[in-house]
Amino acid sequence: MRLQSACAVTAALSSALPASFALPALSPPYQLFLRPSAPPVPIVIWHGLGDRYDAPGLQSLKADLEATEGLEGVFVHIVEVGADGPADQKATFFGSADTHVAQICAQLASLPEITDPSLNPSRMFDGLGFSQGGQLLRAVIERCNGEGLGGVKARNLVTVGSQHMGISALPPCPPGSSPFSPCRLMHLSLVRSSIYSPWAQQNIIPAQYFRDPERIDEYLAANEFLKDINNEREGDRQVEQGGRDGVVEAKPRNQTYKENLSSLNRFVMFRFSLEQTVVPPHSSHFTVPSPSASNCPRPPLPIDPSCYPTPLPYSDLPLYAEDYIGLRKLNKRGAVVLNVCEGPHMDIDEECWRKITRWFGERGWKGEEGEALA
Ligand SMILES: *[C@@H]1O[C@H](CO)[C@@H](O)[C@H](O)[C@H]1NC(C)=O
Ligand SMILES: *[C@@H]1O[C@H](CO)[C@@H](O)[C@H](O)[C@H]1NC(C)=O
Repeated sequence: MRLQSACAVTAALSSALPASFALPALSPPYQLFLRPSAPPVPIVIWHGLGDRYDAPGLQSLKADLEATEGLEGVFVHIVEVGADGPADQKATFFGSADTHVAQICAQLASLPEITDPSLNPSRMFDGLGFSQGGQLLRAVIERCNGEGLGGVKARNLVTVGSQHMGISALPPCPPGSSPFSPCRLMHLSLVRSSIYSPWAQQNIIPAQYFRDPERIDEYLAANEFLKDINNEREGDRQVEQGGRDGVVEAKPRNQTYKENLSSLNRFVMFRFSLEQTVVPPHSSHFTVPSPSASNCPRPPLPIDPSCYPTPLPYSDLPLYAEDYIGLRKLNKRGAVVLNVCEGPHMDIDEECWRKITRWFGERGWKGEEGEALA
């Protein structure tokens, strides 16, 4: 399977990188003539399910970023949730997303390359989240931006194949996985304990962003992670029907989350054109299938990459229309960029990688435009 995402991906990527990604080597005398300039905004990477911070693929991706023209001297940090590689990989399946997010807030705040103004004069960082790492990094920004990160704020958040509106089917394990692999153990534990059980909601990471539109009341009652970072509340309507009906919200939405997310320079979301792992695929663009879409198979039927159910336009999505988390505010400023990478989940080719790296360094202020928003 490809959800082990960055693993397979970046390994493939590094072999595919053209020589032009590397800086031509300069001999020392030339370096003297280069104008010294501030180092680029640091980049924080949160990897996907099944990956680990020390994976060769991720490490070579980091090296590729460091060698990219315009990113000379960039500090790249791959988040470490587990104390070593195997523990880090296990933590992509098991544990509490809230705990992991708090841990990474503290980790970033402890890195002088991020928080020391002499090493990072920009006082900012860019986030690059692969697959589930995208919504986890978004949580870091919503909960910790600024004050919680030693005064440092996120500039751009770039997510690639992430599940911002959750998933309504669990990602499959790679064919041939051992019965003792974390992925198989996760599936097995979810046979024994239902996905919305308090146990799963505290211990299985993908369960913490499982959001089945057919069982929305259960999700709104049981989920603590995705529901919280999306600022959803019990009783929320799911489709904008035009006109408020005067329902009083149970608990006010968290304005800090909204302020923090809407303070981004750009929120860039990539989805994959042949996505089959993220169900529904448009979750990567922060929306859900339209409830009236009848053009092609809807979850729980397997996703047919040649035909996705029509996504709900943002204007009909209450999270956007009533602006629970600042997505609308961002979009009104032209700061939401939706983009597509050709291929299956996390199969990042050269063109996709080029579009991603545009968002880092000095040119990252404007990057490259994506699709027009609905
Ligand atoms: C918003 O979220 C933060 C972090 O989770 C929390 O500390 C704060 O109390 C929340 N504010 C409200 C009004 O719920
Ligand atoms: C983000 O939230 C924090 C709470 O940790 C708050 O202190 C800060 O001012 C917020 N930053 C922005 C840019 O909204």
